[in-house]
Amino acid sequence: MSNKVKWAVLGSGGIAQRRTIPEGIIPAANAKLISVYDVNAKVNAEVASAFGVKAAGSIDELLMSDIDAVYIATPANLHCEQVIKCAKAKKYILCEKPLGMTIKETQKMITACKKAKVQLGTAFMMRFHSQHQAALQMIEAGKIGKPVYARAQLSCWYPLIKGAWRQNPKQGGGGSLMDMGGHCIDLLEMFFGLVKAVSCFIRSGVHRYKSEDSAVAMLQFKNGALATVDTFFCIPDNSSKNVLELYGSKGSIVAKGTIGQGQAGEMAAFLDGDTKGYEAQQARQQTDGIQIIPPPVNMYKAEIEEFSQAIIDKRLAANNAQIGIQSQKVLAACYESAKKGKRIKIIA
Ligand SMILES: NC(=O)c1ccc[n+]([C@@H]2O[C@H](COP(=O)([O-])OP(=O)(O)OC[C@H]3O[C@@H](n4cnc5c(N)ncnc54)[C@H](O)[C@@H]3O)[C@@H](O)[C@H]2O)c1
Repeated sequence: MSNKVKWAVLGSGGIAQRRTIPEGIIPAANAKLISVYDVNAKVNAEVASAFGVKAAGSIDELLMSDIDAVYIATPANLHCEQVIKCAKAKKYILCEKPLGMTIKETQKMITACKKAKVQLGTAFMMRFHSQHQAALQMIEAGKIGKPVYARAQLSCWYPLIKGAWRQNPKQGGGGSLMDMGGHCIDLLEMFFGLVKAVSCFIRSGVHRYKSEDSAVAMLQFKNGALATVDTFFCIPDNSSKNVLELYGSKGSIVAKGTIGQGQAGEMAAFLDGDTKGYEAQQARQQTDGIQIIPPPVNMYKAEIEEFSQAIIDKRLAANNAQIGIQSQKVLAACYESAKKGKRIKIIA
């Protein structure tokens, strides 16, 4: 393996075109984009021409190009079959969330990758946000004390669009909870550890499509802490501030706008009796809390660089398949809880 991983993109037309190719694969120091494929040939040709790479005419042709890894950004119901195909071709795979439609599908994907001796990663890029990393360091250093309660919010306005795969549970696996709640759950597990049980409500409150547009999940972590995740497809974009709140026995970390696709956001820590404050260079003590302002990091670049480096170094990536299947277990428990009206324990 050279010092650059050679990448292909499967499903070049959506988030790949908007974010992961221009902000991630192209600028990543240890990655090189070779070829792209999308079932929409027109879009694929545009992406290929914009980035000066090969436009493959099929998945088979994509897999025959000189590549090491594939980034999969197609609708959720296609991930399982496509990951298995890429694994059989001995390619490393970074797959968008949710990895599969069900835990069973995700287990099949993981097994296929293990058998082919290729690593499978989950594109939970929000873990790489520099303020999330700064918050994690503070929690790990005990700055907020014993974790007590957290809230993660991610909502948007997503009206009925004919043929939109997210609006049909058979293609998206669910609505706002599956699509955006998965990010929130994953982030909270990064901060507070694994979830052990959930209680959840979902409904279609505003829009007339089959997937839920409203979800609130209550989480109980193995360490005893509690959390809520609220995620809606029916709140106007500017009305949801996508807050992240992390409370402990010695203080809190509160953020606005860090959950999302951008690298912006405001974050402050409120620490009881800590006159020295956060000691990393980037923090400044202010009366309205300790502002946490580390240098911004592009999350898409960071996720590609981490996964590429893991391939080069032959080590487990931070954005590995375990975080993907874990969030899927929590999501499945949330849907079961909503359906049965009961608290559900996460299966080990
Ligand atoms: N991490 C993030 O920031 C983020 C943001 C948005 C979406 N996503 C995830 O990325 C994935 C794609 O979402 P999206 O919003 O880009 O969807 P999208 O519908 O905008 O784009 C999906 C692309 O896949 C193509 N496609 C469909 N069927 C295909 C096939 N059989 N073979 C090849 N290409 C095919 C479509 O033509 C389209 O260009 C989903 O898993 C979603 O959850 C992640």
